[in-house]
Amino acid sequence: MILLGSTGSIGTNTLAIARRFNLNIDVLVAGKSIDKLNEQIKEFSPRMVVIAHKQDCVKVNHSQVLYGEEGILEAIESSESSLVINSLVGFLGLKPTLKAIECGKKVALANKESLVAAGAFIDISKIQPIDSEHFGLWYLLNDKRPVKKMIITASGGAFRNWPLDKLQNATLQDALKHPNWSMGQKITIDSASMVNKTFELLEARWLFGEGDYDAIIETKSLIHALIDFKDGSTTAHFAHADMKLPISYAIMGKVEEEILKPINLVEVGSLEFREIKKERYPIWEIKDSLLKNPKRGLVVNAANEAAIELFIEGKCSFLDISKKIIQAYGHFDNEAQSLDEVFELDTEVRAYVKQS
Ligand SMILES: NC(=O)c1ccc[n+]([C@@H]2O[C@H](COP(=O)([O-])OP(=O)(O)OC[C@H]3O[C@@H](n4cnc5c(N)ncnc54)[C@H](OP(=O)(O)O)[C@@H]3O)[C@@H](O)[C@H]2O)c1
Repeated sequence: MILLGSTGSIGTNTLAIARRFNLNIDVLVAGKSIDKLNEQIKEFSPRMVVIAHKQDCVKVNHSQVLYGEEGILEAIESSESSLVINSLVGFLGLKPTLKAIECGKKVALANKESLVAAGAFIDISKIQPIDSEHFGLWYLLNDKRPVKKMIITASGGAFRNWPLDKLQNATLQDALKHPNWSMGQKITIDSASMVNKTFELLEARWLFGEGDYDAIIETKSLIHALIDFKDGSTTAHFAHADMKLPISYAIMGKVEEEILKPINLVEVGSLEFREIKKERYPIWEIKDSLLKNPKRGLVVNAANEAAIELFIEGKCSFLDISKKIIQAYGHFDNEAQSLDEVFELDTEVRAYVKQS
């Protein structure tokens, strides 16, 4: 396989599965974590590696090193592997997803931003999602009974129990304290603002088609998805919060061995569900509009990435992230009609957020 984002949270979990099932790695793609990449090269002997910056190439212990976005696209094109795991973070992941599909490869997709920004232009039949919630929905949908509603769950993120009047002063360090697990920086901030769940609803809409989608908070992150069937039954997908399960299915299609220990419900004792309220998560105000107009996810994604950069640089507050997204959403009510327009509109929205 070709593994994009090998040094990240999803990337290292993918390599744990590759190690366990003795899977071959043709290409490793990483950003700046060269020491970690060198360890991975030693263990998995890829044919080629790609990193973010030219100046780091000399530090990589490999004879075939490419760099930058062009390097990633070239590596995908040159590989005979039929599977690309895309665990890059952000809009940067879109071109590699498109390139992999263009080359006839299957994409195990953790990079949800690809679908949020350009779901309308992606051949979904080539995509296997790596996200617990969509894995949960897929698992439950296998019964093929008439569905009424599909519900995904949220942890509530770092600020789920904060007094509302303190949110304005939340710092980057506060936002990175996820209550239930450890992930990359951006998705942890997206969890705290509930933008992540907004993205996952859009992802579900592109993956499973039109329908009734919603999300609720389940504080222990043991249920990832629920389905209300037309007959009045509701089923729930329980699993420990560990990405190795969705990754295993996305890579191998079929899994017959134990990947995770089953949940002991007696030990769990009780579960708590909460409504997602816009007082705590202002982004929820545009959730219904977005689900009706999923192509406008492009604006939300670009505004979010630009606003997160400002937040990390200390140039805006945590709550300003959602404010800037909603402002951009109101300002740009046009939809991209082609992939070229996707890249143009993305650039325009980022510039608008940076100067507003
Ligand atoms: N973490 C989870 O549990 C989880 C669950 C579901 C979905 N996802 C999604 O999966 C994606 C990855 O999330 P993550 O948590 O794994 O993120 P992460 O830990 O931040 O990892 C991102 C990866 O992308 C690499 N990267 C960043 N910029 C790059 C560049 N310019 N060129 C090449 N490589 C670059 C990073 O390399 P360096 O670290 O070497 O710089 C790292 O390997 C996101 O879209 C996220 O929403 C994550």
